[in-house]
Amino acid sequence: MKIGVTGGAGFIGTNLVQELLSNGHDVSILDDLSTGLKSNVEKLDLEMITGSINDVDVLDKFVANVDKVVHLAARGSVPRSIKNPLKTHEVNVMGTLNVLEACRKYNKYLIFSSSSSVYGSNTTLPKNEKQWTNPLSPYGASKLSGEAFANSYGSTYSLPVLVFRFFNVFGPWQRPDHDYAAVLPKWIWSAMNNEPIEVHGDGKQTRDFTFVQTPVQIIIDAIKREVTSQTPINLAYGNRISLLEVIEILRESFPNLEIMNSPERLGDVRNSQNDPSLLKEYFPSDYSVDFKDALSTTIDWYRDNFSRIVSDIGIRG
Ligand SMILES: NC(=O)c1ccc[n+]([C@@H]2O[C@H](COP(=O)([O-])OP(=O)(O)OC[C@H]3O[C@@H](n4cnc5c(N)ncnc54)[C@H](O)[C@@H]3O)[C@@H](O)[C@H]2O)c1
Repeated sequence: MKIGVTGGAGFIGTNLVQELLSNGHDVSILDDLSTGLKSNVEKLDLEMITGSINDVDVLDKFVANVDKVVHLAARGSVPRSIKNPLKTHEVNVMGTLNVLEACRKYNKYLIFSSSSSVYGSNTTLPKNEKQWTNPLSPYGASKLSGEAFANSYGSTYSLPVLVFRFFNVFGPWQRPDHDYAAVLPKWIWSAMNNEPIEVHGDGKQTRDFTFVQTPVQIIIDAIKREVTSQTPINLAYGNRISLLEVIEILRESFPNLEIMNSPERLGDVRNSQNDPSLLKEYFPSDYSVDFKDALSTTIDWYRDNFSRIVSDIGIRG
């Protein structure tokens, strides 16, 4: 089976395409390399198309040529969306509509990657799929819009779709460098370079960190069984941990770790934790990974890939 992965040269995409290939699938990637890296995937035996999901002609050919589509391409990051909401809308909403239209034209199964950020100001914990959403950022709003469109294509056009909401995914291949990098790769990179790690606010905010192998395995399971759902499924196992607790674990690998405090960030959610009941209903196999083990695997990966990251991304070591 040939699987098309938009955003396949990005963090989750790179992990996913490696696993798809080792499961015997053919893979085609469509990525504009805005945050993804060609070097992540160029040695793999797959088809790589450099182009945008906002280019409908390129997208049409890409979707026509695959059996199923995993749509990961997006303009990520809350702060980036606050800076330029129109661009976030263009890629995450219009781009997603383009993907949906192409899948509708060729009747292709589609998995869409939404985000826990759709819950925004809803402080109820843990989160389940029946709770109300109210994004705190244009990024969260764009993901909510994308998932609503995806599910509307399921009900209106009987398109086989499945929406996952990811919760703070981390692991190998995640970029540590730019201003909008996620917290864990940023911290690991700073620690490796003997620089202080930046903590926004008091550090008591919590996250349901998910090791990247978890969504990768669940997506592959979904593809195999062509799982569909009329509502989004939250993809995390409910293991909430505060940033201060993460720092304590990091100190086991980096005993001299120093902290630099900075103000809370606009648009950031205070606490995040999933109730995995619906996930377990649809995916009874346990794909959870222990946080400490996953963090240690991730740190090892950054250590093993230090010089490659410095040369490919062009950041200082
Ligand atoms: N990483 C997380 O914690 C997390 C959490 C919630 C949701 N998500 C969602 O998961 C998906 C993958 O995230 P990621 O962490 O791998 O991010 P990423 O930035 O590493 O990957 C996104 C990829 O999409 C590509 N891209 C961006 N705009 C494009 C366009 N117009 N056309 C084609 N390709 C384009 C980028 O070059 C990149 O390779 C995204 O949709 C993101 O919103 C991620």
